[in-house]
Parts: sequence; structure tokens; C-alpha cells
Amino acid sequence: METVLRYLCDNESRFVAELCEYLRFASVSAQPQHRKDLRACAEWLVKHCRHIGLEARLCPTAGHPIVMAKTPRTKSMRRPRFLVYGHYDVQPPEPFELWKSPPFEPRIAGRSLYARGSADNKGQHLAHLKAVEAYLKTGTELPCDLTFVIEGEEEVGSNSLASFLKRHRAELGCDVIVISDTGMPSLKHPALTYALRGIIAFEITLHGPSRDLHSGIFGGAVDNPAMALCQLLGQLRDPNGRVTLPGFYDDVVPLSAYERKELARLPLKDRDIKKLLGVPELFGERGYSAEERRSARPTFEINGLTSGYQGEGSKTIVPAWASAKITCRLVPNQKPERIRKLVCQHLSHICPPSVQLDIEAGHGAEAYLVSPESKPAQAALRALEAAFHCQPVLLREGGSIPIVTEMKRILGADSLLLGLALPDANAHSPNEMLNLDCFAKGQLMSAYLWRELSQT
Ligand code: BES
Ligand code: MN
Repeated sequence: METVLRYLCDNESRFVAELCEYLRFASVSAQPQHRKDLRACAEWLVKHCRHIGLEARLCPTAGHPIVMAKTPRTKSMRRPRFLVYGHYDVQPPEPFELWKSPPFEPRIAGRSLYARGSADNKGQHLAHLKAVEAYLKTGTELPCDLTFVIEGEEEVGSNSLASFLKRHRAELGCDVIVISDTGMPSLKHPALTYALRGIIAFEITLHGPSRDLHSGIFGGAVDNPAMALCQLLGQLRDPNGRVTLPGFYDDVVPLSAYERKELARLPLKDRDIKKLLGVPELFGERGYSAEERRSARPTFEINGLTSGYQGEGSKTIVPAWASAKITCRLVPNQKPERIRKLVCQHLSHICPPSVQLDIEAGHGAEAYLVSPESKPAQAALRALEAAFHCQPVLLREGGSIPIVTEMKRILGADSLLLGLALPDANAHSPNEMLNLDCFAKGQLMSAYLWRELSQT
């Protein structure tokens, strides 16, 4: 183990340079013009994995390719098998003008590495690859067999992953899945995440007149779809921040007193979150802390709102249509399909006859919840403590990683969520950033993890 740790330490600056190379690919899965960048990025990753000493290949899918890489297998006895999951695709970088440096030209300031994808997720899974490199390049025997699955469609719903998992089920069989694609509260609070929220997405459109109309000539005589949409959506939450959709909370399991006590011990308090996010005042479901609301309570959220004239100056029209992109974050025991039905039924029920409602349901995923007391979870906590020299905390996270439930269903394995992004990582926002101490300590954590996990 000493030589592995020393290798990681000695090669730190090269690893950062390699991460920068990886970050230069504009692998934006949501935007068709970046298809080639995704492909090039995946090819770079395959090459890099081979360079490290892994057996790697590019697996084509109906969408963006998946990279699969394995440690060389020894023919001898059966060893524990672990799968590391990550994603090389990134969120769209827009709005560009808010970036202090271009999103795909990595910039280092102090211990911060700025680039789209640095924290979510390239830096996080590269940390695991570097730990494995340290074993392979120092000739230190790994106590287990490792397989990396790095996909390119996570940020758009992982559409190709389930069929990939089914196709390669035997090959991907494993005892536990390891994912670093979440957060940690601070460098002094490394974290094991034991719950994620689920999600269900919608696109809601209200159609009015067959074309944009002169608002002077016809305004007042017909409904305005933009106004109608605001009124429709405005009815869906009350002043106390509760979602008013009938039945929305029916299946929600309340937080136990023990969990609430644990969550209250986390270092980020309401006032810190307020400052971090630059809001004049926090807002949300009354009776819960911001930490509880962002991780353990469900939401109904407008992600995008479009209608009418968006250019400079004014244009006096009644828009022909208005639409909203919506996602609900779901908590354990809420079923995406049931929420989909509730939303469709209720909106149809309250939609006025003066506009025509069209709802398209998008991707959905159930929330995830595992016991932090399992043997693998305990092993992970030991690895975190050894790497960060601090006692780890247990977290619920508000984001979603839809494939964790898929992997449980298809491969039968639970996921250990060991996130390396700090609260100011700006995931999905301008100036996304990875703390280089998290990157370095993440590598140490991964190096310890294989030993600790293999002993259980
Ligand atoms: N890494 C995030 C998920 C995440 C972030 C979980 C922080 C917990 C804490 C992931 O890449 C992501 O953003 N997922 C999407 C999934 C969606 C597109 C289905 C999300 O949560 O919005
Ligand atoms: Mn991610």
C-alpha cells in the first residue's frame, strides 16, 4: 500500500494535467452538435485506460458510446468483483458570458480547477482510474477485479445504459458498485451518501391562437397562453412552499427523528446555504431545514419557461403558445409513474377551456435508499477516514443518478456513493469547479477502498 500511496503523491501534477486534457472535450450530451466531441472524448478515455494498463473498449449504443475497462483478470481463484460507474458527458455550459474563463479551457486558481465537467463527473471518476493506475504501475496486486463503466448519456437520462447492462450482464456481475458522482459537505467532512432523490420530467405546452396575434387588435378577446400557463403553474404550490398537487405527498415516508438529528449535525447551516446561493432569503416547505428540503423532501420545479417574443425591445403580441419544462424530485417510496399520472390528471382538470393542454412526460427514476450499516458501507467509511483524516458523515443527496436503481435491478448490486464535489463546485452552473485536494484525496480513498472492500 505504501508504494501505491507514494506513486499517487509523486504523480499528482501529471494527473492534474491529464484531467485538464480530458476536460477539453466539449462532451455535452444534450446538444446534437457535440456528437463528435462525445465520441472523441470516449476514444481518448479508452486510450487512457489502456495506457494505465486496463483492458478497455468502446461500446457503441443507439446514443453515445459507453467505455468499458477492466483490470487484467488472473485465472486463479474467484476474487471480489467491483464495478466503478461514471459519466464522461457534461451539462450544457450556457450561459457562456457568466464563465470567468471558457468552460472547455481548464483553468487552475489556487486549489480550484475550473471547467465544465470537472466535478460532474470527469474529475471524480478519473480519481478512481488514477488509484488503479497506481496499483498497476507499481506492480502492487489488487485484491479484487475491477470493471469501469463510463457512459456518455447520464445528463440526458442514461437512455442506452439499461440495455447495455442487460447485454453485458454476466460480464458486469459484481458484489458492489462504486460511484463518485455526488457531493461532500467540506474537506473535513468526507461523506457516504445513502439516499438520492428520484425524478420525473415533463414538458407542458398550452396552445392558444393558431399564430402569434397583434395584442392590440385581438388582446383581451382571447386567452393569453403565457398568462394561462403562469396561472396554471402558480396553483401548484402554496405560500408555505408545499406542493398542492392532490396526492403528491401520499407515499412520502417521513424522516425519522434520528435522521433529522443526524442531518442537523451537518456543517452547512441555513445561513451558509443562503450565502452560498446568493438568494435574498431561503424558501421552501415550512417546517423543514434547507438541508432536509434539498435532500429528503419532494419538489415540483420549473426548469425552463418559454413563450412569446424573446428578442430585444418589445413586440406587441399574444403568443400562440407557452411551454414549461418541469421536473419533480421524488423521495424514497414515491413512484415516478404515479406522480406522472397525478400531474397529468390534475393539470387536465384545472386547465381552462380557452387553451389546449399538451403534456409530454419525459424520463423518470425512482429515489434510492440503502443502509449505511452494511459491510461495504462500513468499509467505505474506513477508506474515507484513512484518506481524509476526518470522521466521515452520512448524507442524503437531492440529485438523482437514475441508473443506481437500474443497476440494482439488473445486476443485483447496491451502489456505494462516495462523492468528491464540494458545495461550491457549481455543478450544472457557470464556473464549475473541482477542488484539487478532493481530487488527490479521492485517489487515496479509492486506493484504500479496494483493500477495505475486499476484506469484507
Ligand atoms: N452527479 C449528478 C447527480 C448528483 C449531484 C447527485 C449531486 C447528488 C448530488 C448527476 O450528474 C446529475 O446531475 N444527474 C441528473 C439526472 C437527471 C438528468 C436525470 C440530475 O440529478 O439532475
Ligand atoms: Mn454527474
